[in-house]
Amino acid sequence: MKRSLHERAKAFFINMGRKSRILRGPAILGLAVSMLLNRFFEYCRKGTKRFICAVFVLLCFMVGNSFAYPVFQEENGFVSGTESEKVIAAVPDSDIVLADVQQVSYDELELLEDEDVLEGYDDAELHGMEEADKYLLDEILKDEINELPLEEEAVEKTEEELYSEDPLITFSKEDWKLVLINKQHPVPEDYAFTLGKIKTIKGEMQCDERIVEELLAMMQAARNEGVNLAICSPYRDLNRQEVLFNRKIEAYMEKGMSYMDAYSLSSQAVTVPGASEHQIGLAIDIVSDTYLSLDEGFAETDAGKWLKEHCSEYGFILRYPKGKEYITSIEFEPWHFRYVGKEAAKIIMEEELCLEEFWDKYL
Ligand code: DAL
Ligand code: ZN
Repeated sequence: MKRSLHERAKAFFINMGRKSRILRGPAILGLAVSMLLNRFFEYCRKGTKRFICAVFVLLCFMVGNSFAYPVFQEENGFVSGTESEKVIAAVPDSDIVLADVQQVSYDELELLEDEDVLEGYDDAELHGMEEADKYLLDEILKDEINELPLEEEAVEKTEEELYSEDPLITFSKEDWKLVLINKQHPVPEDYAFTLGKIKTIKGEMQCDERIVEELLAMMQAARNEGVNLAICSPYRDLNRQEVLFNRKIEAYMEKGMSYMDAYSLSSQAVTVPGASEHQIGLAIDIVSDTYLSLDEGFAETDAGKWLKEHCSEYGFILRYPKGKEYITSIEFEPWHFRYVGKEAAKIIMEEELCLEEFWDKYL
């Protein structure tokens, strides 16, 4: 006689349970489910009304459940919607107010320059520095310049001779000129140096006093060749670096960026506070009398080209070169020059290295 589906399933599970002790548990479960299903089909077979009732109850359960789902979620602080809405809902009694974050394409956004973010800022917040603190050689008081030996040919020759006499010159990590400052190496808490003050007709310009002579010699040499360099942002204290950085974040957020995106983009143009070379007085931003913006276009000007070619003769390097952004994590800055001393500067500029690479190779 032909066995029913239920009887075959029952025999299958009993057989399975007998064969192996491990399969006994699943076999008992399978047996129970097949019996339940059999009872249910028997029940439905005996009356169409009962079957319709059962389907109706099942449908009601499904529909009710689908309405209850979001309600359940909302009560627990989770709702569908944007990330910001989810965060707010998850903390029902909090005061958090998140900006409505728009989708902003990085390609559409220009990197903001320092001038853009400092516009309209009052001097008090700039920590005593003028908004347009750019100094030309003509604005530096004559006494300052006259005190210096500006025979740059002679100074340069002596250093070059020194280097050629000792081609195996070694560099030391302890050398103040080579200190590495970046996001991974913030300014050490005990870093000490003396601020040199150069008097100008607009006030004082500050940087590490040990680089003043070379800096002015470089400006003089440039002018001798018809290039009028303008110094800006020499020494910056931590507060000014913070102001600059926070203003940049705000400016990006005003353009619709989230805080995290604005932070990340700002840190490509302004080093995070505590990790800027401007804070140790060894970095100088330099433009010219005819090109006062700190942007990539400066690289194509006569002054930008002159600086790239001659900066190493005075101990300076182009600190954030094009193509090295993946190492420095700072955008190309043809205006930012860092003093490292003539020997290191010569190697760095000739071998087209950034300071991080120089450290890897020579220190
Ligand atoms: N603009 C450079 C990266 C600085 O802020 O130090
Ligand atoms: Zn700079």
